Amino acid sequence: MPETVLSNLEAAARERIRTAAGAEELERVRVEVLGRKGSLSEISKGLGKLPPEERAGAGRQLNAVKQALEAALQARQTEFEETAGKARLAAEWIDLTLPAPGPARGHLHPISRLQAEIEDVFTSLGFTVLDGPEVETEYHNFDALNIPRDHPARDMQDTFWLTGGSVLRTHTSPVQVRGMERFGPPLRIIAPGRVFRNEELDASHEHTFYQLEGMMVDRDVSVAHLVYFMKTLLTAVFKREVTVRLRPGFFPFVEPGFELDIHCLICGGQGCRVCKQSGWVEQIGCGLVHPNVLRMSGIDPEEWNGFAFGLGLTRLVMMRYAIDDVRYLQGGDLRFLNQF
Ligand code: DAH
Repeated sequence: MPETVLSNLEAAARERIRTAAGAEELERVRVEVLGRKGSLSEISKGLGKLPPEERAGAGRQLNAVKQALEAALQARQTEFEETAGKARLAAEWIDLTLPAPGPARGHLHPISRLQAEIEDVFTSLGFTVLDGPEVETEYHNFDALNIPRDHPARDMQDTFWLTGGSVLRTHTSPVQVRGMERFGPPLRIIAPGRVFRNEELDASHEHTFYQLEGMMVDRDVSVAHLVYFMKTLLTAVFKREVTVRLRPGFFPFVEPGFELDIHCLICGGQGCRVCKQSGWVEQIGCGLVHPNVLRMSGIDPEEWNGFAFGLGLTRLVMMRYAIDDVRYLQGGDLRFLNQF
């Protein structure tokens, strides 16, 4: 066997080992060169044909090449393993000195936050926060508020009637009735809560929304008191002086009744989509409590009078954050809620 055959084979094998791109390619080299049917075993089969005096020397040479190539393969294999190990370490490396991200935390819904702020304002003015049932009697939701049976507010389209004559309350006003029944005069209460109407849904109508009712019953209560409390409320909510105007408005439970508008905060009164180009936005229904309402809850209207108001918390939140579609508020989309 010519030595050059062996040394050429060794050189070629070393070159393939050196340039192998990965463990798989290395394995192919091992099989083709050192494997049972590989080139080295082909050569060793030829040893038998050599003259006896050359056989031992050639065998030794063959073994030396075999061991050298095995060592080279092993070395290259180790190199691959080290690189892979380093890559894995780099990928899995964690900086233990970084502060932990902590669990994801929620926060108050913008309606809840506004509600809490208004509760703060009114409790500091001596009002009590009252709660009332969402499933309400027809009496509290309508009759006791001087809403006659043929009033359009009783129309089947507006009210969710329940079996047995109860309703899902259509406003928070029944809580003023419950307040009068429970405490009598003098009285200062607010009642935030969820209300329901059987509405066609669109950008400004939801079947479920939030209101806040307020009532003060005392001696010699006037519209001036009412305006004072409303301005205090709106200044606290919007954190600035707001311009208001009163328009006559009809609500069966107040006389006189008003709609209190504020200068549109989105356009500053210039006129925009939200205020329908008028510069004003209707915010609060209010008025002096109707004598019938006092009388029905056992309060003598000759001795006592009061004011009442009802505002849409949902609407106020929309104005405060310039939200132009009410459906975002209860839609449960975290991309929306996370902005607050
Ligand atoms: N309950 C009325 C509504 O839901 C709002 C309202 C208007 C409440 C005038 C009042 C009030 O207390 O005096 O539209």
